[in-house]
Amino acid sequence: MQSFELLSRKFALHFEKSHFPATPASLYEPNNYFLGLGGKRVRPVLCLMGNELFDEIRNDAWELADAIELFHNFTLIHDDIMDKAPLRRGMETVHTRYGESTALLAGDVMLVKAYEYLSKIEGDFLHPILMLFNQTAREVCEGQQMDMDFEKQERVTLDEYLRMIELKTSVLLAGSLKMGAILGGAGERNQNLLYEFGRKLGIAFQVQDDYLDAFGDPAKFGKQVGGDILANKKTFLLIHALETATGTAADELGRLLATNEADKVEQVLAIYRACKVDEWALELKNKYLDEAFQHLDDIAVLSKRKEPLTALARFLVQREY
Ligand code: IPE
Ligand code: IPE
Ligand code: MG
Ligand code: MG
Ligand code: MG
Repeated sequence: MQSFELLSRKFALHFEKSHFPATPASLYEPNNYFLGLGGKRVRPVLCLMGNELFDEIRNDAWELADAIELFHNFTLIHDDIMDKAPLRRGMETVHTRYGESTALLAGDVMLVKAYEYLSKIEGDFLHPILMLFNQTAREVCEGQQMDMDFEKQERVTLDEYLRMIELKTSVLLAGSLKMGAILGGAGERNQNLLYEFGRKLGIAFQVQDDYLDAFGDPAKFGKQVGGDILANKKTFLLIHALETATGTAADELGRLLATNEADKVEQVLAIYRACKVDEWALELKNKYLDEAFQHLDDIAVLSKRKEPLTALARFLVQREY
């Protein structure tokens, strides 16, 4: 079993190749720019770990990992347009640098390239993996639409938020693990337990993402801090604050949501702090991480083999970027 760090390094080397032709450079250069910014490469590594939990990593698992990372990057390019995000991975977003139309196309062609890698999967594995990949992609679109719908909704419940982040984020982490497990020859029960581990872990992962969007250190986070507040995203932070703020703070929060004044972010953050949202964040993350580990425990392989996944899960919910 290889550690997260080792597999990440191996994947980074493997992924560092030219995925696109040279011309038209106006289309492919933006993609090379974006992929060159790096990223944690969590999902392809989850896929490789899902395979290795059950058997040696197959050759085509690396192509599947490529497909997954390209799919993820495609969603980020489009997400940054939707979220009007200026920064990603510490650098300008693709649409800021190259314009929205190019960013749309660059994302589209990246998705097509992902399917090209997928088609390299051998034998009987191709069909089930393609089905899961497509289901995942559909669900990410559904979650992304819900995320935008919620921006305009005054109230969103915690359950609605959890369902939304499960769709936009968790299913890809869960799907990456399960696709790897399929290649590793896992039985159906183990595949599904690993999926559930990823689904719960993904929720904790997005909770941390939403927390960092408000309280992250700009020098480490790589994205615009406060972007979710500016977009009126219905994160658990806002939902919790709307539920617990009392008196003037509650009125103030309601008023701030309807404005776009210069210090909106600072004012909302002050209310968040007063509502002790960091305690709530910790509680939420721990709840989902515990549930994730229950599922991991139930997988019928030696517990020693699960150690890299445990370490990766802990890193993901504590990360600062
Ligand atoms: C960002 O994912 C999008 C979310 C689902 C929160 P990552 O935090 O994995 O982004 P990179 O690939 O490491 O930049
Ligand atoms: C994005 O969620 C999820 C997908 C890209 C599908 P966010 O909008 O919170 O992700 P970041 O914060 O921009 O990375
Ligand atoms: Mg975003
Ligand atoms: Mg978004
Ligand atoms: Mg975010």
